Order: sequence, then structure tokens, then C-alpha cells
Amino acid sequence: MKYKRSDIYWFSGTGNSLLAAKMIKGVFEEEGLEVELHQMMLTDPKKVKGKSLLGLAFPVAEQGTYPFVWDFIKALPRSKGRKVFMVDTMMMFSGGIVGPVKKILDAKGYKTVGAKELKMPNNLYPKKIDPGKNDQTVVKAMKEAEEFAHAVLDGSAKWGRIPVLSDGMGYFSQADWTWNLLGKHYKMEIKKKECIKCGICEKLCPTGNIKVKKYPVMGDKCKYCMRCYSYCPRGVFHKEGKGRYKAVKVGELLGDLSERKQEKE
Ligand SMILES: Cc1cc2nc3c(=O)[nH]c(=O)nc-3n(C[C@H](O)[C@H](O)[C@H](O)COP(=O)(O)O)c2cc1C
Repeated sequence: MKYKRSDIYWFSGTGNSLLAAKMIKGVFEEEGLEVELHQMMLTDPKKVKGKSLLGLAFPVAEQGTYPFVWDFIKALPRSKGRKVFMVDTMMMFSGGIVGPVKKILDAKGYKTVGAKELKMPNNLYPKKIDPGKNDQTVVKAMKEAEEFAHAVLDGSAKWGRIPVLSDGMGYFSQADWTWNLLGKHYKMEIKKKECIKCGICEKLCPTGNIKVKKYPVMGDKCKYCMRCYSYCPRGVFHKEGKGRYKAVKVGELLGDLSERKQEKE
């Protein structure tokens, strides 16, 4: 099958998944496709229509992914055979994402042409940031992303599914209680006095959980994607003894969030 166009929808906490999406975009463009990247958080999934090759790129979280990424995938419209691929990035292991996402998309009528999981640096409160080691990890992952992109185009990519096991593992990251429980462990310490009210955290938060008043006030919708923690210019979202990982500059994640409302309308 010769593709003409691909639309890739991405979410990325700290840039790893965005790097993967960009690598795939680059390969597709070299191969003559027209490609557009779209932020999941700026997109109404119900309006994701068309016949182009659909791409999904996002991080692994709690063996699966963030609830808002699940929501996006589950809300995609039904399709008559639109081809779709997915790529996720993770520190080590998932288990509950590739199979469950395939099940959802198969049931909606998509044709699932390939899934790839890429090992990337850990962004969840890393104890220590080792730039040399992280660079090596990213270079290796980008090579795999490049190969995967070619495999998607030449039809050799695979998207497997282990029934029951992966569905079971996929359950955790979709359950509210998992995140409520983890909240105690992952909670950040807000250094109120450090806040300069730049509003970056509020703009970046995918769940609209942060309101900057005299300092950032968090509601109860945090899913610990690490955006505010990693990108606050003053390190307000502190975690004692932990480093802050970021793979891209904040501007690449922000895109034009001023268009956020407009696109959702
Ligand atoms: C809340 C949270 C949960 C995570 N859970 C997993 C996990 O279950 N397995 C894993 O291998 N990595 C896990 N990670 C690590 C990330 O998947 C990994 O660093 C990813 O590449 C981050 O991508 P991003 O920069 O696009 O957000 C987790 C990270 C966070 C913040």
C-alpha cells in the first residue's frame, strides 16, 4: 500500500514520545508522504476523521498509559478500515498497552498495521540524570523508530496482542483507584515562594489541574505526567532528592496552546 498522507496524534510529558513522533514524521516525509503532527490535548478525538495513515504516539505510564490518552483513543470515531500505527516510549516495560489499544481500535473498525515500543530515559522522578547515558538511549531508540517507520510503509510492521494477559495489565492504568493510590507516593511538594507566576505549568497541564494564583494550586486530577515538574523554570514542583528530565525544549510541547480553545470548539 502506498500512503500519501499521515496524521500523527501525540502526547508527551517530557519530550520522549514527541521525539519518536518527529523521527517517524521525518522518515515518512523522506518517503514522499505529507505528514502533520497534532497534539492530542488540542484535538477533539471525535473529529479525527479522514483516510490518511493514522499515527498515535504517547508514553507508557503504570504499564499502560495516562487515563487522558486512553480517553482519546476510546473516543476516536468508528472507521471502515483506516490504517493506524502506534508508538510508545517507556523506561523499561509496559505489558498493558499494545494489546489493549489494538483491541479498542480493531473493535472500531481500524486496520492496525504496526506497534512499536521504544526504551527511552526515565522521566519519573529520576534519582540522577546522566546526560551521556540518556543520549545513548535516545540515539538507539531513534534508530528503532526510524526502522519502524520504514516497516510501517513497506507493510512489514507488526502489531501483536496477547489476549487476557495484556488486557489484565492494561486495566491498572485505566482505573481511577490506581492513580488515587499512586497520588500519595508521587505527590509533589510545591515551593510556593519560588513561583514567578509565568503560567507555564497551567498551560502545559493536560488535565487542566493547575491554576496559578499567588502560586500554583493543584486540584485532584494530576496524573503525574511530569510536565509541570520538569518544565517549571523555577523548579516549584519539587521532589526532594530527585532530578528533572526533559528531552525537548518547553516551546515544542507548548506548540501554540493559545489555539487550544479554538481547536477544541
Ligand atoms: C507516572 C509515570 C509512570 C510511568 N510508568 C512506566 C511504566 O509502567 N513502565 C515503564 O517502562 N516506564 C514508565 N514510565 C517512564 C516513561 O514511560 C518514560 O520515561 C517515557 O519515555 C516518558 O515519555 P514522555 O517524555 O513522552 O512523557 C513512567 C513515567 C511516569 C511519569
